[in-house]
Amino acid sequence: MKLLSRLLASSPGRKYVMAASGAGLLVFVTVHMLGNLQVLLGPEVLNAYAHSLRNPLELLWAIRLVLIGLVVMHLWACVALTLENRAARPVAYARSFESPAVTYASRTMMWSGGVAGLFVVYHLLHFTVKAPGVNLTGLDFGVWTHTLPDGRGTPDVYRMVIAGFSRPVVAVFYVASVGLLCWHLSHGIGAAFQSLGCKNRAWAVAIRLLSNGYALMLFLGFVAVPVAVALGFGKEALK
Ligand code: HEM
Repeated sequence: MKLLSRLLASSPGRKYVMAASGAGLLVFVTVHMLGNLQVLLGPEVLNAYAHSLRNPLELLWAIRLVLIGLVVMHLWACVALTLENRAARPVAYARSFESPAVTYASRTMMWSGGVAGLFVVYHLLHFTVKAPGVNLTGLDFGVWTHTLPDGRGTPDVYRMVIAGFSRPVVAVFYVASVGLLCWHLSHGIGAAFQSLGCKNRAWAVAIRLLSNGYALMLFLGFVAVPVAVALGFGKEALK
């Protein structure tokens, strides 16, 4: 316990918390992106998949609690490290001694992370809470159901996604937000390697390629769905 509190009070310990919680969130984002691509396989496949995620409900809630824990840890580490940096330099230098690239990256990491967080709040209202006021279609996604092959009813997630992206402004907002999130991840993955002590001159180029490539793959996987809907995919679900 003492070791843990000493670790959390130290700068490297906080960086580990930031890196480990970020890695956990990255796993969720990757699995979610792969799951979303099943929209392209049609209503039967996607709705059966979404149904399996809710059964058993206890498992879904366990995953949600883990996600909330990871978000809290990530935010805590971000605030603690920022306050620590400010305390170490209470009066801003007239001239910054950090390289412009470093200060630019850390500042933009804060606001890109913040905007991505606000996007997640909107996204939860849109597709999880299904608050009718935020989808800009005038429709209530919460009343749509789909019948599974065994006769059981389940929420019609497929129709919700197609309707959800039928408003171009919403589709564009998702593409822009996911772009910002992936930009955040491309920097975050590299920073995590550094915090874990795995980044040196020899590995720097490989790590940069890996983080940029991974973030680009996530971006393309996520935007495939709103872009496909914008191009007319699935429109028969709304008739
Ligand atoms: C175009 C991109 C995206 C699409 C099409 C999409 C689609 C969906 C859908 C359909 C659901 C509801 C699932 C259900 O009720 O069965 C959902 C839930 C969720 N999404 Fe996304 N999503 C996207 C991007 C993201 C991103 C980038 C994040 C995180 C940064 C994210 C985080 C979540 C979370 C946390 C939930 C709630 C899961 C739960 O029920 O606990 N999504 N998403």
